[in-house]
Amino acid sequence: MRDILSRLLKPVVTKLEPEAAHQLAIKALQWGLVRRPKEEPDIRLATRHFGLDFPNPIGLAAGADKNAEAPDGALGLGLGFVEIGTVTPRPQAGNPRPRLFRLTDDGAIINRMGFNNDGSAAVLARLSARPRQGIVGVNIGANRDSADRIGDYVQGLASFGPIASYVAVNISSPNTPGLRGLQARSELEALLARLNETRAGLPQPVPLLVKIAPDLGHDELAAIAEVCVAGAIDGIIVSNTTVSRPPLRSGLAKEAGGLSGRPLFDISTRVLAETYRLVGTRVPLIGVGGIDSADAAWAKITSGASLIQLYTALAFQGPGLVTAIRQGLSRRLDEHKLSTIAEAVGSKADAWLTRPPE
Ligand SMILES: Cc1cc2nc3c(=O)[nH]c(=O)nc-3n(C[C@H](O)[C@H](O)[C@H](O)COP(=O)(O)O)c2cc1C
Repeated sequence: MRDILSRLLKPVVTKLEPEAAHQLAIKALQWGLVRRPKEEPDIRLATRHFGLDFPNPIGLAAGADKNAEAPDGALGLGLGFVEIGTVTPRPQAGNPRPRLFRLTDDGAIINRMGFNNDGSAAVLARLSARPRQGIVGVNIGANRDSADRIGDYVQGLASFGPIASYVAVNISSPNTPGLRGLQARSELEALLARLNETRAGLPQPVPLLVKIAPDLGHDELAAIAEVCVAGAIDGIIVSNTTVSRPPLRSGLAKEAGGLSGRPLFDISTRVLAETYRLVGTRVPLIGVGGIDSADAAWAKITSGASLIQLYTALAFQGPGLVTAIRQGLSRRLDEHKLSTIAEAVGSKADAWLTRPPE
């Protein structure tokens, strides 16, 4: 019955106004209307990073469940982890609608949501009410009108540190003016110093990850890598949406905002491979951007991602994509005669960097 409902829902969801469709999809997850087919987990896909045991490396990227309305429904799709948020200290409405655009011919989305979210108190209450099971990270940000942006991140870490599996510091959203400036060396050093002080005061240390933009030059990336290693950052999420516009078919290409999905794949995978070359195995990387198949997932992993996340392709293809990626990764392990997914990480990073642009 539930699977029939989820199959019926998909065509409805893809025809609705994009933001309404998204809200319906979250409700369907919350109500448990979508679930994965029963199947034995492949233990070769299990992987351990920053003290957490991931049942598989596939996660839900931030932005899909900003308010922690459906983390358990999302985990129920067979994902290895879920990242909720971005959450800001105070609730905020975000940008005026329309602010979410589906570029169907390009397999892409442009969004300028602007951190619409219920605020940390409401999200914390929701997370506190659920059983502590599965890996649920919290992505934190700053309010648009904040007079003290670093203070907002400190507040986010202090609020969610005790309950989150990990905390991701989002300094790469293009839709909050000036936010990406926190990626500059001196700003990032100041931010991480304050966050490490806060982290040291928590009852238990929580893994701290940094999420970066794909629109960074080599020197900027090298500085970020150095500061993250020096600041004992547990993971780098590569990447957020891009403000660049590779060639696109859709007339909506001119909309302002961050581009995600298929056209982001090459851009973000290049930055991922470059980051891998800079940090090696010192900091695990989470590869995000345009993953829409098991092939794309495998390419992210071999380019340097220890874990992966997705959002846009899930919105287009529906939850069956998670199962397809899990099964596809298992097949790749068979083909390459590998006994764990960790063995594949980074094996093609150099090849990505020398690859001619398409
Ligand atoms: C509608 C939408 C909202 C998003 N909101 C957030 C957000 O609040 N915080 C964040 O860190 N990333 C956000 N993202 C970026 C995603 O987490 C991800 O980094 C990006 O979409 C690339 O992955 P994808 O191509 O699989 O979608 C958002 C993406 C989309 C499409």
